[in-house]
Amino acid sequence: MPPRPVLLGTWPTPLEPAPRLAGALGLPADALWVKRDDLSGLGGGGNKVRKLQYTCAQALAQGATTLITTGAPQSNHARLTAAAAARLGLRSVLVLTGTPPAVASGNLVLDRLAGAELVWTGDATPQQVHHEVERQAQKVRDEGGTPHVIPFGGSTSYAARGFVDCAAELLAQLPGLDRVVVAVGSGATMAGLVAHLGVAGPHTTVYELLDGMSGVQARRADLQIDRGQVGAGYAVLTPAAREAMRLAARTEGIFLDPTYTARALAGLVAGVADGRIRREQQTVFLHTGGLPGLFGHPDLPQLTGH
Ligand SMILES: Cc1ncc(COP(=O)(O)O)c(C=O)c1O
Repeated sequence: MPPRPVLLGTWPTPLEPAPRLAGALGLPADALWVKRDDLSGLGGGGNKVRKLQYTCAQALAQGATTLITTGAPQSNHARLTAAAAARLGLRSVLVLTGTPPAVASGNLVLDRLAGAELVWTGDATPQQVHHEVERQAQKVRDEGGTPHVIPFGGSTSYAARGFVDCAAELLAQLPGLDRVVVAVGSGATMAGLVAHLGVAGPHTTVYELLDGMSGVQARRADLQIDRGQVGAGYAVLTPAAREAMRLAARTEGIFLDPTYTARALAGLVAGVADGRIRREQQTVFLHTGGLPGLFGHPDLPQLTGH
């Protein structure tokens, strides 16, 4: 019997109408909604809180004393793991790629505030990062503790259940919804949504996560993964993402992060422009948080001009 999730966030997150953003895109005022998972409560909020409720339940059931995870320096998942550990009275070790910056910014500041121990791996390969995580886990054991390793992005089939909860909230808030637009990283957010909303698709990671979720009957029907907004890479601000950040801020007073949610809204804008997202549909944009990453982003100066 899997453990019950621990309560780390504030639920349900709000579903807000976005009439001015809809109007700017040429949609009817009542056709666009924003699901505010950026307002999920813990540690600056964001989608990762939903996963951590499940992951931390497993960790506590196994008697964990220390959460260990990995990520990029501006990982929102790492920041929220540090916050969850603090909330639960656990230690946290974050194994990060790259080297420590001269001055910490964005998520790194919050990691440190929450008491996380940071371990830097330089330009290590994923395999080397994995070995470092193993080394840190052994160190915890040697000191008499019990480590619990959370995979990159916090995505496991069990953690994806956090987004089954999100989908159930959405169906209660907007029973007639047609489409949810969300950023995809390590995949569990989309997998959890798809598991409950009843659609599935061919993308390997999301599909593997779905396979690991017991009782999920998924159809390969309507799920679309649009790689059109990836641009030149993870930490590069694309022109479309920059425009999307301005649009959300100037129409609805909603701030997006440059890496995930700005790309997702840019994808929504492109979908409206090319007719994939239609006027008569009820579309939900899932705001998955990540705002602290803006303040650690290398292209921040590009956002401060008009
Ligand atoms: C702000 C934000 N949105 C979306 C995602 C993507 O979620 P997932 O990793 O479950 O695909 C992430 C993952 O890092 C994130 O930090």
